Amino acid sequence: MAMKTRICDLFGIEVPVLLAGMGGASTPELAAAVSNAGGLGVLGAAGCGPKQLREWIQRTRALTDKPFGVDTLLPASVRRARDQQQAGEAPSPAEQVAPLQGFAQQFMDEFGLEAPDPESLKVTRDPDEPLPLSAEFFEAQMEVVIEEQVPVYVSGLGNPGPWMDRLKANGTKVGAVVGKVKHAVQVKSSGVDFIVAQGHDGGGHNSPIGTMALIPQVVDAVGDLPILGAGGIGDGRGVAAAFMLGAEGVWVGSAFLASDEAGIFDFQKQAIVDAEEDGTTISRAVTGKPARIIRSLWTDYWVREGKEPLTMPYQGMIASPVLAAANRAQRGDINPGFAGQGIGMVKAVRPAAEILREMVYSAEQALQRASNLHR
Ligand SMILES: Cc1cc2nc3c(=O)[nH]c(=O)nc-3n(C[C@H](O)[C@H](O)[C@H](O)COP(=O)(O)O)c2cc1C
Repeated sequence: MAMKTRICDLFGIEVPVLLAGMGGASTPELAAAVSNAGGLGVLGAAGCGPKQLREWIQRTRALTDKPFGVDTLLPASVRRARDQQQAGEAPSPAEQVAPLQGFAQQFMDEFGLEAPDPESLKVTRDPDEPLPLSAEFFEAQMEVVIEEQVPVYVSGLGNPGPWMDRLKANGTKVGAVVGKVKHAVQVKSSGVDFIVAQGHDGGGHNSPIGTMALIPQVVDAVGDLPILGAGGIGDGRGVAAAFMLGAEGVWVGSAFLASDEAGIFDFQKQAIVDAEEDGTTISRAVTGKPARIIRSLWTDYWVREGKEPLTMPYQGMIASPVLAAANRAQRGDINPGFAGQGIGMVKAVRPAAEILREMVYSAEQALQRASNLHR
């Protein structure tokens, strides 16, 4: 039995399974492994400055001759914050973050983290490039996506509408991740080729609507446009369920985090293997937007102390030094990372191609079982 849908024709791939763009984790090595195995690998380029993004795209091209995609963020809230600051209607970034810097330091002191040396942070940032996660940063990424004429582009947050004509002129297939029906309708009217409906179960930036309820409602709202289901899809049974709900493919994140190729630390892969189905929580403590994340001392601290995180991009300026210090100390109890509720199904770290092959095989079995019910 071959699992073929319009998604396979749209991208020129063998099976309708996409590696979700996961910032930092979906590296060229992981994306190429998924593309080489017959799915579509999508780079998680949200945090890549323009130079690194170009290097990632070129590295992916060296690792596979198959199609692949790039995912970045286009949050309207960040563009609005920039416009307000330029109009003098909002405090500067330094003024916004100042009240919570002491709080972050208090956390580091309590849990034995050494603050990173500011000099060591400087070398990791190219002074010619825009400040990470600023509006200028996101816009500079889009210039690289367009210049490099990538096969597929996906906006993980926000609407790619302003870039649509230039992307389409290159033949790039364009998609957007949504967590609400109204956002699906908005991106459809901008001319996207496909939509990812990501439900509450999923890792990373999060929808208030459960995956099982979201997919059919997005499918109903956008008519003939192909939909990919996402959020909590951990094996072939989840893939089959997404098809039953009207999706024509899947966008899978967390199941690929515990892969040899994923660009996360070994202690984070171990945290995923160790976690159970209730190991995640929704928190704004990392980026300022609600995100599903493995529960940690950092997420708990905000709850315990009754502190409200800042909005994006300011919360990132508070969280980044703390999480960088946790990474250096290999503290999985402080920075286990984003992940979805499906991680209870992950039992080992494996090659990505094996994860994909097993997912496709078990989806075909599940679909067969479902068709046997119909007698
Ligand atoms: C570690 C991690 C990082 C993520 N980063 C991004 C991102 O940069 N851009 C994006 O569109 N979605 C991001 N997401 C969400 C995924 O693209 C995807 O929608 C989600 O992982 C699907 O749910 P699942 O994890 O249950 O498979 C991230 C998810 C995880 C787990």
